[in-house]
Amino acid sequence: MAKALTKSQIAASVAEKSGITKKQAGEILEFIADLAYKNAKNSFTLPGLGKLVLVNRTLSKAAALGTEFAAAGNLVVCGYPELADLSGQFDLVINATSASLRGELPPVPANAFRGAALAYELAYGKGLTPFLQAARAAGVPNLADGVGMLVEQAAEAFTWWRGVRPQTAPLIAQMTVPLI
Ligand SMILES: NC(=O)c1ccc[n+]([C@@H]2O[C@H](COP(=O)([O-])OP(=O)(O)OC[C@H]3O[C@@H](n4cnc5c(N)ncnc54)[C@H](OP(=O)(O)O)[C@@H]3O)[C@@H](O)[C@H]2O)c1
Repeated sequence: MAKALTKSQIAASVAEKSGITKKQAGEILEFIADLAYKNAKNSFTLPGLGKLVLVNRTLSKAAALGTEFAAAGNLVVCGYPELADLSGQFDLVINATSASLRGELPPVPANAFRGAALAYELAYGKGLTPFLQAARAAGVPNLADGVGMLVEQAAEAFTWWRGVRPQTAPLIAQMTVPLI
């Protein structure tokens, strides 16, 4: 794989293409990054950049979600077999099915994990689930389960009700089942 472009190289490309100076292109990139940070809590989508692929074994359910969230942009709906054609395009693969609760592997083609930086399993307390095992076997360098999500969303709800944010790190550490 070729080396990733540096910020300076990206700015130079934008400047050349659009007839502005490299300094102006750099300032625009910084402005977009700042805008993304500030608006992340309301969800921020840069049209044409970043894509969420939503899969369900019952395609009609995925299609219904795709229609409901179409306005959010950059959302693609497909079935499991089509994931094989998108191999190498995912940074993050999330298992939001309940398959792990029965020790099952959703039918994700193994090559769908190729190049992903993180595999995230929503189930928690199950250790290395079949999904995480498949991700590890495919070479995904970072694995996580849903214990952090469970505790952090509960802490958020507690904060809303009580105005006090609980310490989450010790609880996550206590509840974590090692992914080995
Ligand atoms: N970490 C957290 O805080 C947290 C919070 C909530 C839930 N969870 C976890 O998230 C997961 C989903 O929970 P949920 O409440 O959304 O479950 P759910 O409503 O029962 O939804 C299950 C989904 O999984 C799909 N599915 C089940 N078995 C499958 C299989 N073998 N292959 C492919 N797809 C399969 C189902 O597909 P069909 O539509 O085709 O039936 C359905 O879309 C569970 O593991 C749960 O423990 C974690």
